[in-house]
Amino acid sequence: MEKKIALIPGDGIGPDVVAEAVKVLDKVAEKFGHKWSYDTVTAGGCSIDKFGKPLIQEELDKCLKSDAVLLGAVGGPKWDNLASELRPEKALLGLRGGMKVFANLRPAVMFKQLKDACPLKDEIVGDGLDILIVRELISGIYFGDRGTAADGKSAWDTERYTWEEIERIVRMGFEFAQKRQKRLCVVDKANILNSSQLWRKVTETIKGDYPDVTLSYLYIDNASMQMVRNPRQFDVIATSNMFGDILSDEASQITGSIGMLASASLGESGPGLYEPIHGSAPDIAGKDLANPLATILSAAMLLRYSFGLETEAKAIETAVEKVLDEGYRTGDIAGSERDAVKAAGKLVGTKAMGQLVVERL
Ligand SMILES: NC(=O)c1ccc[n+]([C@@H]2O[C@H](COP(=O)([O-])OP(=O)(O)OC[C@H]3O[C@@H](n4cnc5c(N)ncnc54)[C@H](O)[C@@H]3O)[C@@H](O)[C@H]2O)c1
Repeated sequence: MEKKIALIPGDGIGPDVVAEAVKVLDKVAEKFGHKWSYDTVTAGGCSIDKFGKPLIQEELDKCLKSDAVLLGAVGGPKWDNLASELRPEKALLGLRGGMKVFANLRPAVMFKQLKDACPLKDEIVGDGLDILIVRELISGIYFGDRGTAADGKSAWDTERYTWEEIERIVRMGFEFAQKRQKRLCVVDKANILNSSQLWRKVTETIKGDYPDVTLSYLYIDNASMQMVRNPRQFDVIATSNMFGDILSDEASQITGSIGMLASASLGESGPGLYEPIHGSAPDIAGKDLANPLATILSAAMLLRYSFGLETEAKAIETAVEKVLDEGYRTGDIAGSERDAVKAAGKLVGTKAMGQLVVERL
């Protein structure tokens, strides 16, 4: 297979972790007989420095012309005092909107090797967690009408959803549930919000198309409690932009390390956008300390969802598991074992971790 992958290294640790994911993608190409060409895209703080804006049309066009996009992270203190329209994070909204990727898939998977890093008790976590959050990404309150009154004494943001926007997300939730444990939970605030009541109406209308999936609803406040009280009840969660943003961060914390979690953003057609869930971690940028596994696992998702290469995706995930089984850790996932890991010579940096995955492949 021949494909073009757009790479957005971005800022901070973004370039460090994307470089390791590329090594892994190259190894996959060599092992399975594929050919990838790469196009590097400038977006985020580095784009502000180069072009005066977080994302320019020509760079977005490179993404649109590719078969899939792999992003590191954007942002950092250097650009923190800019007006909100000019901040690096605006590049993310520009990419998501420009690529029309309306669904964000955030798997919250707890690796059994990293169980110690999970803040929940053993009896709550059992033999592991595997939750998939399907978050609506390009509508709702983050994109609705907003304003601040002239006297600065009131401000508003508007949550607005159309039937079509809800239907495509909930259908995606049902379809992923069909391929997993066949349970879908729609999270909303239908006891108060009209927009949430529409989410329920749409879900009730289409649920008959998925008779094999057990459907449930939870209000967001209850869902947030359930996520720490009994997270194993969840298989797939479908929810709005803001609720998904908050709930997926909560889910990521109970799995242990932010440096391990990947994500995919998909649209109806066109390239998907793949990225680790962490930010640009300016505190450790360029120090060979970042954990590259979330980005490497994002590359696995890219192969699975954009190129349909399940065997290759699984090979990357298995290689990551092997490296963890052998006891190798970056600082963020060494936890309380840090001294022992170090003494065993298995406390590794970004580059060594990437290389270990390549070798296990
Ligand atoms: N998608 C994105 O590009 C994205 C997402 C979140 C935050 N940001 C931006 O990133 C910058 C820093 O944000 P933040 O500090 O809130 O979040 P962050 O995720 O960058 O860092 C939070 C903490 O986790 C650690 N960490 C993160 N990723 C790691 C990794 N791969 N390996 C080891 N440790 C890791 C960091 O060192 C830090 O201590 C800000 O400018 C923020 O706006 C970007």
